[in-house]
Amino acid sequence: MEMVNVIIDGKSVEVEKGSTVLLAAQKAGVHIPTLCYLKDVNAIGACRVCLVEVKGAKALQPACVYPVSDGLEVHTNTPKVREARKAVVELLLSNHPADCLTCVRSGNCELQTMAQQMGIREIRFEGEKSTFPIDDRSVAIVRDPNKCILCRRCVATCQKVQGVSILGLVNRGFNSTVGTAFNHPLDDINCALCGQCINACPVGALSEKDDTAKVWAALADENKHCIVQFSPAVRIAISEEFGIPMGEISTGKTVAALRRLGFDKVFDTNWSADLTIMEEGNELLQRIQNGGVLPQITSCSPGWIKYCEHHYPDQLDHLSSAKSPQQMFGAIAKTYYAEKAGIDPATIFSCSVMPCTAKKYE
Ligand code: SF4
Ligand code: SF4
Ligand code: FES
Repeated sequence: MEMVNVIIDGKSVEVEKGSTVLLAAQKAGVHIPTLCYLKDVNAIGACRVCLVEVKGAKALQPACVYPVSDGLEVHTNTPKVREARKAVVELLLSNHPADCLTCVRSGNCELQTMAQQMGIREIRFEGEKSTFPIDDRSVAIVRDPNKCILCRRCVATCQKVQGVSILGLVNRGFNSTVGTAFNHPLDDINCALCGQCINACPVGALSEKDDTAKVWAALADENKHCIVQFSPAVRIAISEEFGIPMGEISTGKTVAALRRLGFDKVFDTNWSADLTIMEEGNELLQRIQNGGVLPQITSCSPGWIKYCEHHYPDQLDHLSSAKSPQQMFGAIAKTYYAEKAGIDPATIFSCSVMPCTAKKYE
C-alpha cells in the first residue's frame, strides 16, 4: 500500500495514496465540518461546508472529495475558509424553514448545530423559499421536502446500503428536491420502510411517523384496556437514551416506566418471539417431511418481507408463513389473553414499542 505525506494545519500525517483531505485531517485530529459526507456511503462534494485552502489551488476545495498527494499542504481554519463555510450555511438557511422550536430534530440537527458553532445569529440572505407539501401518506415515514438540504445522504443510503434505490433528485433548479418516482407514496412502492434514510438525514426532512398522541388518547380513555408489548432491542436502546452505559439491559426499568405511563399490562415481545420460533420450527419440520420449499427463510421482519415481495417475488415461497412476533402478540392479545382475563377484545388497545419503522406497516 503506497503512503503519502500530507501537511494539515502544519501537522504532518501519513495516509494512503488515493485518500481524501478529510480523512487525512481526521487522522491528524483536525476537525473539518461536513454535511453531505457520510462515511463509506456518500462523498459527492455537494454541500461545500468542508471547504479548505489547498496550497497551490486556485480556489477553496471540498475536503471530502479532494484527493491527497505527497507533500500536499492544507489549511482548514483560515479567515477565508471560515467565511466561505459560513456563507454556505447561511445560504442553506436562506431556504430553510426557521421552525427549530417545533422541529422533530431540534437539538439533534446537524444544520442547527453547525449554524450555532459558526456563530450565525441572523439570516443575511432573505428571498424566496421552497414550498413543497409535506408527505405524510406513509404509515411509517414523514417527508418534509422544505427542510431538505439536498445532501443526498438518504439517496446513497437507500441505494448503496439497503439496495433498494427508490429515492432520487426530482425537479430542476430551485425546485429540486428528493423524492420518489412520480411522487408515489412510500407504502405503495418498493420502499422497505426500513427507516435507514431517516438515520442518514442530517436535518428534519425525514422522520418517523409519530403515533404518540393516539397512545395518550387511549391511556386517557377509561373504557379502554391498554396493553403494551416491547421488543428485545428497545430495552437496550432506551438505556442509551437515558445515559445508562451502552449495552446495558433496562427491562425492569422499561416495564416500570410503561406502567407509570398508565398501561394496564406490559408484555414482552420475547414471549411471542418464542411462539414464532415454535411456529416456524413446526413449519420447517413439515416442509422437510412433506417435500416443501427449502430453504425456509424467516418472516419475522416486515421490512424484509416488503423488500422480498418487491425485489425477489420469485423467492416468496421460501418465506415462512408464520406471523411476526409483533403480529402474533396482537392476535393472541385479542383472543387468548382477552378470554383468560375476561375482557371484551373490542376494548383492548394494543400498543407496541418497536425498534424499526417497518413495524408500523404490519
Ligand atoms: S425506508 Fe429504507 S427502503 Fe425506504 S426510502 Fe428509506 S432507506 Fe430506502
Ligand atoms: S431528505 Fe435529508 S438526507 Fe435526503 S437529501 Fe434531503 S436533507 Fe439530505
Ligand atoms: S461534506 Fe464535503 S462537500 Fe459536503
